Amino acid sequence: MENIYSNIFSFNKKNLLKSIDKLKKGHVLGLPTETVYGLAGNAYLKKAVRKIFTLKKRPSYNPLIIHYANSKFAKNDVILNDNFYKLYNKFCPGPITFVLKKNKKSKIVSLATANLNTVAIRFPSHRIIKTLLKQIKFPLAMPSANLSSGLSPVNAKDVFDEFKKSLKIIIDGGKSKIGIESTVVDLTENPKILRHGIITEKNIKSVLKTNFSKKKGKIRSPGMLKKHYSPGIPVIIGRKPVNSKHAHIVFGKKYKNIKNIFNLSKKADLKEAAANLYKTMRKIKKKGYKKIFVAKIPNRDLGIAINDRLTRASK
Ligand code: TXA
Ligand code: MG
Repeated sequence: MENIYSNIFSFNKKNLLKSIDKLKKGHVLGLPTETVYGLAGNAYLKKAVRKIFTLKKRPSYNPLIIHYANSKFAKNDVILNDNFYKLYNKFCPGPITFVLKKNKKSKIVSLATANLNTVAIRFPSHRIIKTLLKQIKFPLAMPSANLSSGLSPVNAKDVFDEFKKSLKIIIDGGKSKIGIESTVVDLTENPKILRHGIITEKNIKSVLKTNFSKKKGKIRSPGMLKKHYSPGIPVIIGRKPVNSKHAHIVFGKKYKNIKNIFNLSKKADLKEAAANLYKTMRKIKKKGYKKIFVAKIPNRDLGIAINDRLTRASK
């Protein structure tokens, strides 16, 4: 029988070299990171960046995150400031993305940053992507490997489900440990959180000890404007389902183990809940449920990021 997953590869020397070769030539690959899987392309090549937008059906006003092995390399493309170095020394490599001013000498294709004069940069910690980034001379533009507005993938098969054979290579790096996207913090002026994640505002404040921007109104992260993180069926927050055709996502130990109940964390652990969030919503959709009801999840620490994703999914 034909292996339907014939474009999913394990990570070894041979497949690493093959991946590097494909990226150099402008191909787009599915690669693992510690947060979610990404759709990676050479950020210095127009052909690769265009392909990312086309594959994802992503609107061209929504810029991509550019991934680097380290800050020395990123310096060519962005202007690194004091707040950046403080957070970089504390959290990188890791699940945090910094929005900074673009360096005039930057070679990043302007479509990748939606023609903005800022760039979002990240230094992922997953062993595979870290190894790969160290061996290439260009950064990777890498959005989450899902069709625009859908759920981010947290394993290689999720990526396959999104793009089937239109990717030549998907590298299997196991399950993404964190399970939700990186925290995005704008450091171009007073710091501002643009997307919540496992590194919380509290964590960032404890390092920077400076005022955060209170500016309201203008949304600085174009990708956060609309409905997002949608499983493809309605999501209703704070109510219980009335029948078993509807799935119930819950959190904590007070729930029974019945068919339509999906517990993000029986021990009420927010990290475990984040890691299970997208996986659970994909599973529910695949099982044919028509709606998802979600019980209350505490709105503190990592719960803020989880609730942010759920609220957008319910729009
Ligand atoms: O964890 C992650 O960050 C994953 C993995 C693959 O690294 N990537 C990811 O990328 O989540 P994406 O494209 O799905 O989300 C990028 C977010 C979007 O909300 C986008 O609008 C915002 O970052 N962004 C990118 N460049 C920006 C910029 N210059 N200014 C403000 N927001 C920006
Ligand atoms: Mg995304």
